[in-house]
Amino acid sequence: MCGIIGITSTKPVSSSIINSLKKLEYRGYDSAGIATLLDGKINEVKCEGRVKALETNISKIKMLGTVGIGHVRWATHGVPSTLNAHPHSSESVSVVHNGIIENSTLLKKFLVEKGHKFKSQTDTEVIVHLITEYLKENDLKNSILKMLKKLHGSFALGIIFKDQPDLIVGARRGSPLAVGYGPNENYLGSDSYALKSMTNKITYLDDGEFCILKKNSVEFFDDTGKKVNKSVLELSNEEGDYDKGDYKHFMAKEIEEQPITIKNCINEYIDKINNDINLLNFPWKQNEISSIVLIGCGTAYHSCLMAKHWFEQLTDLDISVDIASEFRYRKNKFKSESLYIFVSQSGETADTYAALDLCNKNKMKTCSVVNVVESSIARDSKFVLPIHCGPEIGVASTKAFLGQMLVLYLFSIKIAFVRGSIDKDKYQTKIKSLLSLADLVKNTLDTDNQIQSACNSFVDAKGSMFLGRGSSFPIALEGALKLKELAYIHAEGYPAGEMKHGPLALIEDGMPVVVIAPRDYYYNKTISNMQEVIARGAKVLLITNKSTDEIFSENIWQKIEVENTDDDLLPFLITIPLQKLAYHSALKKGYDIDKPRNLAKSVTVE
Ligand code: F6R
Repeated sequence: MCGIIGITSTKPVSSSIINSLKKLEYRGYDSAGIATLLDGKINEVKCEGRVKALETNISKIKMLGTVGIGHVRWATHGVPSTLNAHPHSSESVSVVHNGIIENSTLLKKFLVEKGHKFKSQTDTEVIVHLITEYLKENDLKNSILKMLKKLHGSFALGIIFKDQPDLIVGARRGSPLAVGYGPNENYLGSDSYALKSMTNKITYLDDGEFCILKKNSVEFFDDTGKKVNKSVLELSNEEGDYDKGDYKHFMAKEIEEQPITIKNCINEYIDKINNDINLLNFPWKQNEISSIVLIGCGTAYHSCLMAKHWFEQLTDLDISVDIASEFRYRKNKFKSESLYIFVSQSGETADTYAALDLCNKNKMKTCSVVNVVESSIARDSKFVLPIHCGPEIGVASTKAFLGQMLVLYLFSIKIAFVRGSIDKDKYQTKIKSLLSLADLVKNTLDTDNQIQSACNSFVDAKGSMFLGRGSSFPIALEGALKLKELAYIHAEGYPAGEMKHGPLALIEDGMPVVVIAPRDYYYNKTISNMQEVIARGAKVLLITNKSTDEIFSENIWQKIEVENTDDDLLPFLITIPLQKLAYHSALKKGYDIDKPRNLAKSVTVE
């Protein structure tokens, strides 16, 4: 993962680097560092922990350099520590790196034999020594080219040189990198968000490219060193909603703003006058598609599973779902009439990007469902369906999950209608139900008190289970993932019907189990499975929807009822109490809710 930034200017750059690093902290937050160059001397400040700590350290000294690089780290090689924090420097260069150098052990051996001394446990340090070695006999550009040729793996790099007073080299393979343009200064960053307060003029490097930034010029080169011309994109000036406001955590804010994000997304896609869904410029005819493959990681994978359910219910298409890290190494049978849908909030997830790249290389039809529309996944897909959620800062995905499900649902009903699998009446009834979704979600946000009391049992538990069938199974997986990542409580999402094939052995007296049983096609079956866990001592928190029918089960520990709506929309409502369960459990345990341990918002390493 990791985030990198570089600035070359006429003024001191350390405070702007710190500001950008704060924005990049979603990519990693176990350590941070900065290096600036002044009068031919590279000054480095690094520390374990957050950017705030780095800022405090820097405030104690004067960092006056007018060219500099900065880094936030998510450890891959070597523990999080000041020593392993980037930048890594030699007597002649300083480097920040996002990615993994897969052949670092071999390269290190080669460099040690040449007399280079290593200080850290990182893979990155080989880059420092390689350039230092090549600079002995080559000019800067050739040293960079030689160094890049030696590296296997993925990287975005920012490099400053002791003898180059206003120059930064950037390079990318696999990991994203953007260049920004300012008055008498230029920038390098892992994303445009980090540069947004300084510029809205951006160029994204393509894979294999490198660039040389000076304060008044930027040059781009391909992997052979040939100069390339690249266009400058002008991004919107909107700063977006990057403020917590009165909320204690971004996650709390992002849960609460879901009615608004749903409304925004619906406004983008639904033509209320004609009661229709707009998929403007969808590039393929319906007879060109006979199957859909949905691909994502983590929460995005769960929204793919949800979409499989809807597509299968509503259309005649063959649907499959894959985890990106599995798909990319599988022996896939690419079919020209398949549509490949990549789901990703950040649009930068390395495995999802690699899966997309593989499909593009095989000339497949590729479509992405993303939140960040300037991201690599969005840029490299043939068609993009944005989820219009606004920035999601909390590491645990909440509003983006609902946004992904919403867009995939809109897509499934539109495709179903276009293919004639549902008639106009059914299509328009479903659209009408969607128009009330935001209000229904808003009402469901009132489950706070009930959830807070349920939390105590989860917080003290050794483990927990989340059970559901049909459309409730992906939601069970998502509920369990949220509890794991935020409250560090072992939680397993399971298809309710599978319990008797093994996991029932885990159930013991007092174990909290969430049973998701909306009154849908699967209801009676799930209630039977619920009885089986209650009979073995589980404390069941049942989540269902309101009904006048009684629930035929005794000894349910707690029950949460969401509003009634079209069965297809119940997963949106049921997700809300599960998000809150994870949030309040983590709050009770005093954990860092927006930045859970060992994680990062954008997973740019495989
Ligand atoms: C969990 C979570 C992760 C992400 C996953 C994919 O709360 O946020 O599981 O869903 O890392 O990230 P994106 O959607 O950015 O590709």
